[in-house]
Amino acid sequence: MSSDTRSARVCVTNAKGGTGKTTIAINVAGALNERGRDVLFVDLDPQGNATEGLGLLDAYDRAPPTFFDVLTDHRQRDRAGELVVEHGEMDVLPSNIDLLQAEHELTIADLVARVKDDPELAVDPSALASLGINVTPESVSGPHALDVLDEALAGIEDEYDYVIIDSPPFYGKLTDTGIYAAQHILVPALTEATSERAIELLIDQMAALEGQTGITVETMGVVANRVEKTNEDRQMLAWLNEVFDEFPVWEVRKRVALQRAFKAGKSVFAADEQVDMADVFLDIAAAFDERFGFASDSTHEVTHD
Ligand SMILES: Nc1ncnc2c1ncn2[C@@H]1O[C@H](COP(=O)(O)OP(=O)(O)O)[C@@H](O)[C@H]1O
Ligand SMILES: [Mg+2]
Repeated sequence: MSSDTRSARVCVTNAKGGTGKTTIAINVAGALNERGRDVLFVDLDPQGNATEGLGLLDAYDRAPPTFFDVLTDHRQRDRAGELVVEHGEMDVLPSNIDLLQAEHELTIADLVARVKDDPELAVDPSALASLGINVTPESVSGPHALDVLDEALAGIEDEYDYVIIDSPPFYGKLTDTGIYAAQHILVPALTEATSERAIELLIDQMAALEGQTGITVETMGVVANRVEKTNEDRQMLAWLNEVFDEFPVWEVRKRVALQRAFKAGKSVFAADEQVDMADVFLDIAAAFDERFGFASDSTHEVTHD
């Protein structure tokens, strides 16, 4: 167990779609479970790919209260525990179709917080709040409203060593709440030229979020994903290692077996076939354990839920 009751939280993020956020989040969670850690997996993507992949479509389609209510209605913030679903390798806080409204609602909540915090803006917080569904001027305070996931997790994380957050494939308030809650990011990136822009934007966005909220976001590392053996892959690997020279850059190769495990609703650790990339996910999990102070002697302690 960790030394304090707060679990270690990591947000897997990159605003570009298809970089492997969901695949890597599920397999890192699976690897942590393999090392004997208790993991809560949080699906912050309104499209719910992880939720669906893990076989939890019922949760995605469930009626309120949903993850949307927990994030946007302060009176329901303590209900996250009611939404958690058990899965073979990890517990899951599933996405829900209502999360499609969350970006709009969280944007308004954040604006309400900002105008309340700065009277010189001379904007009526009630008028702004009336554009939202759940937000009221009374329900937000402080310079921002990005702490909603942080608060929701505080009530349920005692049971977990780790919270792994899978984020949406776009940059916005939902992603901000995920990064704010975790304050640690793992960044999947494809080894193709289009990734450069995405990484540069991510670095700018981290700086903006840190400036707005006063937190410091720690990079756990980068996962170069779907790596093949072309020149472009080699060049991009070199670029990633240069930009992230202080951080680990792990390499996950392109493997159909990763897609098969995902379709079966599992990480590679629970899949029927062996996947050579499992070792990379175990390396990432070991680095997390080292960073967060989990005993290294438990490397061989394999537990299954
Ligand atoms: N290393 C890999 N090898 C083969 N396919 C992969 C790999 N990583 C991801 N994929 C596939 O690429 C697609 C996008 O990955 P996904 O994890 O959903 O990305 P994101 O969550 O960033 O949008 C999925 O179909 C997934 O199965
Ligand atoms: Mg995804």
